[in-house]
Amino acid sequence: MLRADKTHKTRKTQRCASVKACRHILAIEGMSRDAIVALLDKAQSYVGGDSGKRRRLSVLEGYSVINLFFENSTRTRTSFEMAAKRLGANVVNMSVATSSIKKGETLLDTAATLNAMDTDVLVVRHPCSGAVVLLAEKMTCPVINGGDGAHEHPTQALIDALTIRSRKGRLSGLKVVICGDVKHSRVARSNIHLLNTMQAEVHIVAPYTLVPSGIDELGVRVHHDMHTGLRDADVIMMLRIQKERIHGAYVSSPREYYHFFGLDRKKFAVAKDDAVIMHPGPMDRGVEIDSELADDIDRSLIHQQVEVGVAVRMACLQTVMES
Ligand code: NCD
Repeated sequence: MLRADKTHKTRKTQRCASVKACRHILAIEGMSRDAIVALLDKAQSYVGGDSGKRRRLSVLEGYSVINLFFENSTRTRTSFEMAAKRLGANVVNMSVATSSIKKGETLLDTAATLNAMDTDVLVVRHPCSGAVVLLAEKMTCPVINGGDGAHEHPTQALIDALTIRSRKGRLSGLKVVICGDVKHSRVARSNIHLLNTMQAEVHIVAPYTLVPSGIDELGVRVHHDMHTGLRDADVIMMLRIQKERIHGAYVSSPREYYHFFGLDRKKFAVAKDDAVIMHPGPMDRGVEIDSELADDIDRSLIHQQVEVGVAVRMACLQTVMES
């Protein structure tokens, strides 16, 4: 258990005075296999049972966690809050809409303010790729990336990995197909890095307009047709079209998009018999996925993804605080 006494805080401040010494969770890219497995194992210990599901633990007793979300969020912000509270921390949800950021304060001035308040962990979501890394360089406490632009969403990829591992017993060797707006999706990017590190076979299916540039360097197989991409898939991950990041016309119409790239029973039929469906949420039912298929409890793991969200974020908070 961590000790929230003054000595510990002083040591923590000294240790983190050098940015390099500070342990953050900013991206899956560059994270080792061992680090991923350690986070998944720790998260697993918090799933179900009485090891943390309802009971308030004292692992982060006396520590403060600030959730700083510059973008809308339901699952991520709420589950970080629940995770921090279950570990005994005090949680502050900073609303950007009512903060000085709206008055023009820069990101770096916000960092200086939060440093001065002796924050213990900062969880940040920001619409710009790289903003969370920039903020972390200025913070004296660990920072966890809750999603930055189209760059990374590391905790979502860990959630997805734990969900797959729980159902399939492994990640390596599985054919995982990520479908939809890969270009603007931080979830896709984090998942691609994690699944490659864990030696899964990663495929993407997307219209030409929604494939990111530099995809060749990401080590995935690219398809533009669901019937070829989904063949013999073990896991199918559907993505929402990231309208908030799209300027201009990337898809002709939601109806046409659903016809070619929406997951329905017919397209799903070419996957393996025991294939599973995932989606990070929020879903646009009838655009990227058939509503009834999304709710099929035999095939869809979407509910399980939300369920393990708190456990994964507990593991991340504990890990950064213990580093
Ligand atoms: C994702 C995100 O914010 O990137 N949602 C989430 O965190 N569960 C995916 C999305 O918004 O489409």
